[in-house]
Order: sequence, then C-alpha cells, then structure tokens
Amino acid sequence: MRQLTLAIPLLAVIGSLGCSDSGTVAAASGETLYLEPHSDGNTFACASCHALEEPAPDGIRRPGHPIGNATNRPSFKNGQLSALLDAVNSCRVEWMAAPAFNEADARWLALSEYLSDAAGSSPAPPLSYQIVSPPTELGGGDPMAGQDLFNTSCVVCHGVDASGTERALALRGSLLDAETIGRRVRTSGASNSSVYEGLTGGRMPFWAEDRLSDDELVDLVAFILGNDGGTGGTGGGGGNGGLRPCDATHSKIGQVAELQTFAHQVSGTAVIVDDCTVRVDDFIYDGTGIDVRFYGGLAGDYASGFSMSEEDLRRSGGYDGSEPVYAQLPENRTFDDLDGISVWCVPVAASFGDGLFTNP
Ligand code: HEC
Ligand code: HEC
Repeated sequence: MRQLTLAIPLLAVIGSLGCSDSGTVAAASGETLYLEPHSDGNTFACASCHALEEPAPDGIRRPGHPIGNATNRPSFKNGQLSALLDAVNSCRVEWMAAPAFNEADARWLALSEYLSDAAGSSPAPPLSYQIVSPPTELGGGDPMAGQDLFNTSCVVCHGVDASGTERALALRGSLLDAETIGRRVRTSGASNSSVYEGLTGGRMPFWAEDRLSDDELVDLVAFILGNDGGTGGTGGGGGNGGLRPCDATHSKIGQVAELQTFAHQVSGTAVIVDDCTVRVDDFIYDGTGIDVRFYGGLAGDYASGFSMSEEDLRRSGGYDGSEPVYAQLPENRTFDDLDGISVWCVPVAASFGDGLFTNP
C-alpha cells in the first residue's frame, strides 16, 4: 500500500500547519496563508490545490498547477489576468468563498512576499490549461490503479480511500454514478465563474486536461464505483462532509419527498438511499439562514423532530441544485422515526421547506 504511506504524511502536515515557527513574522504568516485555510473563507487552503513545485515533496498531485514561480509569470489564467493579485483573488472568491484582498491588505503583502521569495529571479513562462468535458465512455477502468491515483491526488480533500475530510465528503460508490463522477472531476466549479468557462457548479475544483488524463479518470471511476464505505465505519473521521456507511435493508429505501417551498427559495427532491442516508437532488436554498439543518419528523411535526445534519447548511452563494446534498440519521434513529424531512431553522423553529416521503 505505497499510496497510504504517501498520503498520511500529507494529511498530517495539513492538519498541523499552525506549528510552523520559522522566519520573520511577515514570512511566517505568508507561509501560513499559503498552507492553511483563511479565517474568512471555507476549509480550503492554497496548498489544498497548489504545490509550490512538482513533483511535490509529499508526492501529491493537486488540481491546480504549482505556484512557486507564479510571481514571475507575465500573465495568469490562460492570459486573462495580468496581475498576480487578481489571480489570487479569483481563487479566494471562487474557490475559498472569501472576499477579495485589497492590495494594501497585510495578508496579501505577506502572501505575495512569500510567493516572491519562492520564485527567486528566474523568469517563468505563462501557463495554459484546458477545461474539457468527460469522455462519454467511462467504463472498463482499473480500480486498483484508480485507488493508487485517488490516494495520491483526490486524497487532499476526500481522504484516504475516499473516507472524507473536513474539506470534502466521503465518496461511496452506491450513491454515485459514472456520469456524475466524470462531470464533477472535469467541470466542477462555479457555473457563473468570471474566469473559467463551461463549469457546472460546485466548490470542488475542476481537473484540467493536463492535470489528469481521460484514462486516469476512467480508472478513478472504477475505483469510486467499487468503493462502498471507505475505511471501516467511522464515517470519515467526523469531517463535515463525511458520510458514514450503513446497510441498505429498510423498506423505505427508494421513497421520495418533494420539498414544498416556504422560505429562502428552498426546493428539492429527497430520496432515502440506504438505512441512514437521504440524498437531496436539485437542492435549491439561498444559504443565508442561521443554524438551518435537515430535520426528520413525523406527520409534519419537526419541532419534536431531530437533526440530520452535523453542520449548519449556511453557505455563501447558496445551493443551486447542481450537486446532490446528503443528510444522515443520527446513530440512535432509524427511518421508522420519520416520515418527512424539513429544511429547518433551529433557533426560530420554522420550516423553510419540507415534504413527506412516499413511494414514487
Ligand atoms: C479549490 C482549489 C483552489 C484553491 C483553494 C486555490 N486555487 Fe489557485 N487555482 C485553482 C485552479 C483550478 C486554477 C486554474 C488552473 C491552474 O492555473 O492551475 C488556479 C489558478 C491559480 C493561479 C494562476 C496560475 C496561472 O499561472 O495561470 C494562481 C496564481 C493561483 N491559483 C494562486 C492561488 C493562491 C495564492 C491561493 C490561495 C490564496 C489559491 N490559488 C487557492 C484552484 C485553486
Ligand atoms: C480541493 C478539494 C477537492 C479535491 C482535490 C477533490 N475534490 Fe471532489 N469534491 C470536493 C468538494 C468540496 C465536494 C462537494 C461538492 C462541491 O461543493 O463541489 C466534492 C464532490 C465530489 C464528487 C461528488 C460527490 C457527490 O456525492 O455528489 C465527486 C464524485 C468527487 N468530488 C470526486 C473527486 C475526485 C475523483 C477527485 C480527484 C480527481 C476529487 N474529487 C478531488 C472537493 C475536492
């Protein structure tokens, strides 16, 4: 299991980055701003998506190109931007859900100093990349090769063997199909992006043509579709995206609830996919409520119901229906304890949208 020994040091590094103590104050905080999530953004760091150079010291291939010499490039993002600050801000806003840096922001000054130290003085050519559609034929891949590749690339966010991290959910074959995997890998990202064309929604970054080949994608599909439950029952170590595995025996599996809209534009179609999981397709919600969760309840009574979300559904940019969202029963509940699901605002005990499960 060569890939495990490669991947675990990386996760350990990303988890313990607060400990770096070298250099001047400005350099150390520039390094921290590269290595760690930003306090005003989501759980992604620059280092989740970009090595400084490749091959990276940790052996991981990331979705973005290395940025160690970016300071010396003449232009960015396929020639569309001429200032490094604009390129970095595009990543802050579109990938990290954080506001753009102002050019006088001390964090930008520290980060740009760190990047320019890394770059030295040799000139660097501009990069180019191509966003491509997945191939139509996604079958016939090699799951073992896919697992190796997964654990040296996707592992940054989805964890070893797709068991999930605080950056991204566990991936379970039973909840996915090849077409969805292909689309997410090739065209994930804000569909209203100001720099990337042809993206189909989501916070996960796309993998451009030169970052991952179609043959590699087919192997990844074979691994993910054969993957059912990750590394043994912990549900991905408690990360907010981690889904825990469970059996598929309950008689309500396959039942569907259409969410009726009451507030915040909530709508979607919830389906019971196994003994502990509900998948919500076409989920629309503006993401602005405070402490809003999926709740299960009986006969429309969610005030005496229970939460099926570990985290607040609050999210900047909201949910545009382009990717499925999951809710899971707490360990002590079964689908006998509910007949409906609500997008429930906990502090004011109000349903933003709900529906009862019925056989389709
Ligand atoms: C979720 C993934 C993600 C995160 C987080 C992210 N980026 Fe990016 N970044 C990308 C992708 C994808 C591209 C476009 C493809 C490429 O150029 O590699 C890109 C492009 C860039 C570019 C332009 C490269 C070029 O020469 O065209 C720079 C510079 C950059 N990112 C810097 C940063 C910095 C600094 C951070 C942290 C503040 C950051 N990025 C965070 C995904 C990300
Ligand atoms: C920088 C973090 C990051 C990396 C790297 C990453 N993903 Fe993701 N991925 C996410 C996030 C976050 C989601 C959740 C949906 C969203 O917001 O895009 C996701 C969602 C997905 C989904 C959809 C899951 C579902 O149930 O709908 C698939 C499939 C997927 N990723 C596959 C991959 C594969 C394969 C790789 C490696 C080639 C990969 N991801 C690399 C962050 C990442």
